[in-house]
Amino acid sequence: MKVVVAVAGGIAAYKAASLVRELGRAGAEVRVVMTRAAQHFVGPATFAGLTGHPVVTSLWDHPGEVHVELGRWADAIVVAPATMDLMAKAAAGLGDDPVLATLSCARGPVFFAPAMHWRMWGRPATQRVVATLAADGAHLVGPERGALASGESGEGRMSEPEAIAAAVVAHLQGPRDLAGRTVVVSAGPTHEDLDPVRFLGNRSTGRMGFALAASAARRGARAILVSGPSALPTPPGVERIDVRSARAMQAAIGQHVGDADAVIMAAAVADYRPAEEAPSKIAKTAGPRTLELVRNPDILAELGAARSGAHPVLVGFALETEDAAARARAKLQRKRCDLVVANLAADGFGGEENLVTLVDAAGDHPLPRRSKAAVADAILDRVVALLGQSGPREG
Ligand code: CTP
Repeated sequence: MKVVVAVAGGIAAYKAASLVRELGRAGAEVRVVMTRAAQHFVGPATFAGLTGHPVVTSLWDHPGEVHVELGRWADAIVVAPATMDLMAKAAAGLGDDPVLATLSCARGPVFFAPAMHWRMWGRPATQRVVATLAADGAHLVGPERGALASGESGEGRMSEPEAIAAAVVAHLQGPRDLAGRTVVVSAGPTHEDLDPVRFLGNRSTGRMGFALAASAARRGARAILVSGPSALPTPPGVERIDVRSARAMQAAIGQHVGDADAVIMAAAVADYRPAEEAPSKIAKTAGPRTLELVRNPDILAELGAARSGAHPVLVGFALETEDAAARARAKLQRKRCDLVVANLAADGFGGEENLVTLVDAAGDHPLPRRSKAAVADAILDRVVALLGQSGPREG
């Protein structure tokens, strides 16, 4: 675990020393980079002493491109304290100090632990900045409500170093609660060919399914991703099978369902396909043309009907335009699955974030709006619980 602690100029900068120590205790190797303003609050010698390494305080005192090296070295970067000014510059993509330049070269996750007066935290510009950073994939830790440097109390106090370190470590180490399990995830749209150059498809990007496969692999599972056409890169540790049509997806899933502890159907499978696929390009004719469609197999419903007992755990998605939770409950029963993830089309399709409700036998569990990675982890938490209930695999 290699972590860069980036210190910006706020009174809470002195707490960054405890953060460095906490991360070290958790087994992380730590390097520190500071803004010029941060050095008014705490000296680099403190961090050099704690880490045993020189502190980066300027882009000019080092041979080579120190920000590129640090960004590449770090498994995670945590900005603590994250001031209003620094976050705004980071959100805008600026890079005129060592912290900003290092952030611009981050290869791993970035955490911000904001610290500021409650009025600064609450103002619309700050909230816009925070929303931009989150949409770009950054993780926010805090701030908390409590005593502020001004003597007032309010929301803006930096989270305690222990809590910040715990959030970073949990993200990097994560639970290995799917070790020894096989999880099959479907993702993306299906393309139903009309002829060699045309198809029927939909706007699914595959992001949700790819996030699920990434998270399953990170948590120790053998993750098999059956993906419809998607431009997304294969996440680390994931076995990917590319398919085009619903029927090809069903066949690929069928090959692995025997080994699967869980099957998660995140794909936007086309319900219909053209009745005939023309062997050569269909030429236009005068007047209108009618296209005959036939039903595709319902992969999830067939898996639900075919399984014996609760193996494998089955998760479906319900992409609805209205009444999401109620329709999801009907789907749960009709397709005989264990969990349905309900979302509204306007909330999920194509974006980086998702607003979903998890619907299972126990009830509805709405989640706050979160990144698709965080939603994936919440879904897998439920899958782990369901696997626990169903006991170890037979045979
Ligand atoms: N699904 C599937 N095979 C299909 C269609 C859908 O396996 N041919 C899966 C999807 O991957 C998703 C879930 O079923 O997990 C939701 O499908 P959806 O089409 O929204 O459900 P329907 O029952 O078809 O709903 P509606 O009647 O509203 O079309």
